[in-house]
Amino acid sequence: MITCASPKSLDETRNQEIIAVMENVLRSGHYILGEQVSQFEIDFSKFIGQNHGTGVNSGTDALILSLRALGVGVGDEVITVSHTALATVSAIVSCGATPVLVDIEEDYFSINPLEIELAITSKTRAIIPVHIYGHAANMTLIMEIAKHYNLHVIEDCAQATGAEYNGALVGSIGTLGCFSFYPTKNLGGIGDGGMVVTNNQALASSVVALRQYGWDSQRNAMISGLNSRLDELQAAILNVKLKYLEQDNQQRIRLAKLYDEQLSGTRVRTPQVRKDSKHVYHLYVVKCQDRDSVVRKLNSNDIFPGIHYPKPIHFQSGYKKLCKTPATGLPVTERLSNNILSLPMYPELDESKIKTISEYLLN
Ligand SMILES: Cc1ncc(COP(=O)(O)O)c(C=O)c1O
Repeated sequence: MITCASPKSLDETRNQEIIAVMENVLRSGHYILGEQVSQFEIDFSKFIGQNHGTGVNSGTDALILSLRALGVGVGDEVITVSHTALATVSAIVSCGATPVLVDIEEDYFSINPLEIELAITSKTRAIIPVHIYGHAANMTLIMEIAKHYNLHVIEDCAQATGAEYNGALVGSIGTLGCFSFYPTKNLGGIGDGGMVVTNNQALASSVVALRQYGWDSQRNAMISGLNSRLDELQAAILNVKLKYLEQDNQQRIRLAKLYDEQLSGTRVRTPQVRKDSKHVYHLYVVKCQDRDSVVRKLNSNDIFPGIHYPKPIHFQSGYKKLCKTPATGLPVTERLSNNILSLPMYPELDESKIKTISEYLLN
C-alpha cells in the first residue's frame, strides 16, 4: 500500500544515530528544557536566518504563542485563508480573535494578496500567510500591504521548512515564523513539536515566558501563559534530522521533477512554482477535473492519495460561525477543494512508483 506521506526513515545509519541520542537523553536524566532544546533552538534559528528560536509543543502552539506575544486577543481580527490545515484558524480562535478568511491564488493555492486588502478593517492586527504544500506565499506583496497598514505578519511555515522566497528562507520574512515538527513534516520528530523564530528580542522573550505559564527567569509570572515546551527527546531527534533536511528536500524536489515529466499530457495538472522560489514539496498536489474516478483507479491499484483539504474551513460547522468571510464567498477555494489531489510524496518513495502512478493517470 502506498499512501500520500510517510514519516518513517528506512535509512539505517540515520535510525541508529537517532536511537543513540534517544538513549543519551534517557540516561542523562534531564528531560525538559535542557541542552538538546537549547542546541536545537540555536541551530534551527540560525538555519532559518533569525536571531531567536523558541521550541514549543507543536506548530499550532507556535501560532498561538506568536499571536499572544503580539497581544492579539478578543475583538481583534486576523486575516488568513480557509484553504489550510485547521490548526491555522483554530490558533486564531484560541486567542479569542476572529479569523477573517480570504481567497487563494488559482495557480499557487496560497493567500491572494489582492483579497487581503479588501478584508482589512480597523480591527485587523495581523496576517497569517500559509506557505502551503511547501511553497512560499507571495511575500513581496504581503509585506508591502502589512507595512502600509501597520500589520504584523506571522508566517505559517508548518509545511515549508527549508522553502525559499527570493533567496530568503520562509520564516525569516515576516515578524515571526512558525514551524511544526509533526512526524510527516519535511523536518519531523517522532511526536509533536514546533518552533517560533524571530529577530525581535522582545517578542522572543514573550514567547519564552508564554510557553511556560508566563514565567520570567525568576519564575515570576507577569503574564499568563501555558505549558508548551518542546521536550528533550524530540529536540535530540530533531538535532539529528536537521542535518538531513536539505538532502531530504533535494530528494523531494527530484521526485517532483520526475512527476512533472511523467504527468505531462495526462489528465492532471502539475503544481506551478513561482519564479525565484524553492518549493520543497511537503505535498505534491495536482488538479484534476474527475477526481473521484482518478482516486478509484489509484485505490484499486493499492495507492492511496490524500486531499488537502476536502472541506474549506468556512464550511465546517465548528468554525463557520467563528470566522468572517466575504459576502461573495471564496470561489477559488471552494472550486479547488473539489479538484485537488495529493499524490504520494516523501523522500523514501521509490522512483519506479512515480512512473507506475503516472501510468494510471494517462488519459
Ligand atoms: C499549515 C499548517 N499550520 C499549522 C499546523 C499545525 O502544526 P501541528 O500539527 O504541529 O500543531 C499544520 C500541521 O498540521 C499545518 O499543516
